[in-house]
Amino acid sequence: MFRSGKGLFIVALADFLADLDTMAEQAVSQLAAVTDDEALEACRVKYLGAKQGLLKGIQKGLAKVDKADKPLAGKRFNEVKSTLEEALEQARNRISQQPTSKIQGPRLDPSLPGNPHRIGHPHPLTQTIEDLKEIMGRLGFTVVDGPEIEDEWHNFEALNIPASHPARDPLENFYLATAKHAVGPMLLRTQTSTVQIRVMEERKPPVRIISLGRVYRPDTPDATHYPMFQQIEGLLVDRHVTMADLKSMLRLFAGSYFGGDVHIRFRPSFFPFTEPSVEVDMTWGDGWMEMGGAGMVDPHVLSSVGYDPDEYSGFAFGLGVERICARRHNVTDIREFYRNDVRFLHQF
Ligand code: FA5
Repeated sequence: MFRSGKGLFIVALADFLADLDTMAEQAVSQLAAVTDDEALEACRVKYLGAKQGLLKGIQKGLAKVDKADKPLAGKRFNEVKSTLEEALEQARNRISQQPTSKIQGPRLDPSLPGNPHRIGHPHPLTQTIEDLKEIMGRLGFTVVDGPEIEDEWHNFEALNIPASHPARDPLENFYLATAKHAVGPMLLRTQTSTVQIRVMEERKPPVRIISLGRVYRPDTPDATHYPMFQQIEGLLVDRHVTMADLKSMLRLFAGSYFGGDVHIRFRPSFFPFTEPSVEVDMTWGDGWMEMGGAGMVDPHVLSSVGYDPDEYSGFAFGLGVERICARRHNVTDIREFYRNDVRFLHQF
């Protein structure tokens, strides 16, 4: 750089071109390296900015180049300017084609099928209970509930099971530790027949009810037993009710729930609260499976709740819900219902 006669600084062509090339080289390599919009904009302002950009600075130097050299200097300046604009454009395209400038991770493919949500459904025992309520409802029976924690009156006494009866042995029952001020010993009910008493104590005949719920016995679990299981209890009291009504009702019930392929039979049996009593079996494979007990309500039971046994008679039955459900679905071990293995439950 030297002073001209007019007092202006004259810039040598070689210096001008060297500054131009150095700046261009830097700009191109920086633009090639930017990866996001922010860096790109910073780069644009630095080199191509209208006011403070480095290119603008060099352009001012162009005025100071010797007149003779100006055409060449101007031509080179314009070439560099379009090179930078091109590099800027390329960088801009490259960034806009990136999936995202900041978030890393796999690209979203909207054409892939979605993940199906597996929708749950009621437990098979719950399904069975609902079906049984529905069938019995059509036969005119209404549903009532009873407590799972019972006193000895409803679980034994009122059902004709006196204190001396082996069924009351503490080893056969889940007695509860009761507080001192309690009315008497309490236990987890061993049968839903307790509800028969509770209903007859409250209502006048005719009675036509069912009750479903859990009962508890210290039984060793096996394919047909579980310490907690469910029963469906039925009770019908009216004038002129006979054993024939009981049998035809249970046949109708079995036919509705299982279809025609299940046969039932009645074996003479004994329950303290029914007379006569039967055990109800259903066909299972080549043999028979005990499904429950039933009978005509014992006149003693009727009179203990204030019904006149000369005027009224009734039948009652109590069936195991797990066995009914297992028979329906050909499940060979009722313990499966309580393992809560979703691979098993999923099938119902
Ligand atoms: C009773 O419980 C009587 N209350 C039935 C009854 C009601 C008789 C009304 C007369 C009038 P039982 O103990 O046999 O009877 O049980 C009835 C049914 O419950 C059995 O046939 C069986 O299907 C089922 N059951 C009994 N014990 C178990 C157990 N541990 N696990 C699964 N099911 C059982």
